[in-house]
Amino acid sequence: MRAMVVRRFGGPEVLESIEVPAPEPGPGQVLIRVTAAAVNPVDLATRAGILTEAGVIPPREVLGLGWDVAGVVEAGSGFRVGDAVIGLRDRIATPLGAYAEQIVLDASAVAPAPVCFSPAEAATLPLNALTAAQALDLVETGGTVLVTGAAGAVGGHAVALAHARKLHVVAVASEADEAAVRGFGADRFVPRGPALGDRVRTLVPGGVDAALDPALLGLDALDAVRGGGEFVAFAAGAAPIPLRGIRVRTVWIRADGERLAGLTRAGALRPRVADVLPLSRAAEAHERLAAGGLRGRLVLTP
Ligand SMILES: NC(=O)c1ccc[n+]([C@@H]2O[C@H](COP(=O)([O-])OP(=O)(O)OC[C@H]3O[C@@H](n4cnc5c(N)ncnc54)[C@H](OP(=O)(O)O)[C@@H]3O)[C@@H](O)[C@H]2O)c1
Repeated sequence: MRAMVVRRFGGPEVLESIEVPAPEPGPGQVLIRVTAAAVNPVDLATRAGILTEAGVIPPREVLGLGWDVAGVVEAGSGFRVGDAVIGLRDRIATPLGAYAEQIVLDASAVAPAPVCFSPAEAATLPLNALTAAQALDLVETGGTVLVTGAAGAVGGHAVALAHARKLHVVAVASEADEAAVRGFGADRFVPRGPALGDRVRTLVPGGVDAALDPALLGLDALDAVRGGGEFVAFAAGAAPIPLRGIRVRTVWIRADGERLAGLTRAGALRPRVADVLPLSRAAEAHERLAAGGLRGRLVLTP
């Protein structure tokens, strides 16, 4: 089968399409024919070698990319052959990823594909929706929650899921995205920019009860949280020091097919696709994601 891999780290030009043996499912795993694979920021960091330098991904001669998949079951356990599914590859030590014609995932990482979305739309959900849901799980107080990067893939789902949990959502994004993030369920909108804490406190005296920070603003977002509140960071090194008794935690995505199925059934998620490109144009997708300004995910189709 064809797979898009890197054999040296660098810019988008290091992405290579190579022929590799088809993967075989082990016990408790499923073989999926990939219909769509979303391109996420973590793929760019993987390609650039940042995750290997950080010791997160072991060095290897051929490194596959891609965490998010929509496809059709070809073999394995837990699903029937022909089932349309979505899934998350969070076993990053495995040599190949979702940028391929086929992928093997643990059955526990796989969920039935939501019937109301196209494969490209569905492929954008596992990583971003599960991360948003698992980040919200870390918030123990109710009340008011700030979401930075609210127009982004994770932030948009975080707004929608927080709204569904009846939290009062204060969203931070570019002014041009106000209508979109209000549509996801934001109750208040704060344009991104300096003095975020001051501007949030004019809307929520004393500050919000909790902040989710997928925009990686760190201390600027922490400043908007009340003393003794909660803060959820989304990347290593993006967690601010826990000033004013604020409990700071970092979310780390974990695959969870059952949860993913529940999230897609609940109906709060609105997948957004910026564009669909053939797998052979993965380098272009990486360039476009790195350039910023996309609304929705780029999706690759083998
Ligand atoms: N820890 C985990 O398990 C986990 C899992 C998934 C993702 N992540 C991380 O979470 C982060 C967000 O991921 P994503 O997929 O949502 O990325 P994304 O779709 O690129 O969204 C990031 C959003 O942040 C916005 N932003 C950037 N700087 C900002 C600022 N100063 N103020 C307000 N908004 C700002 C961006 O706006 P513009 O586009 O207008 O610049 C964009 O809308 C990434 O770093 C990703 O690696 C972590």
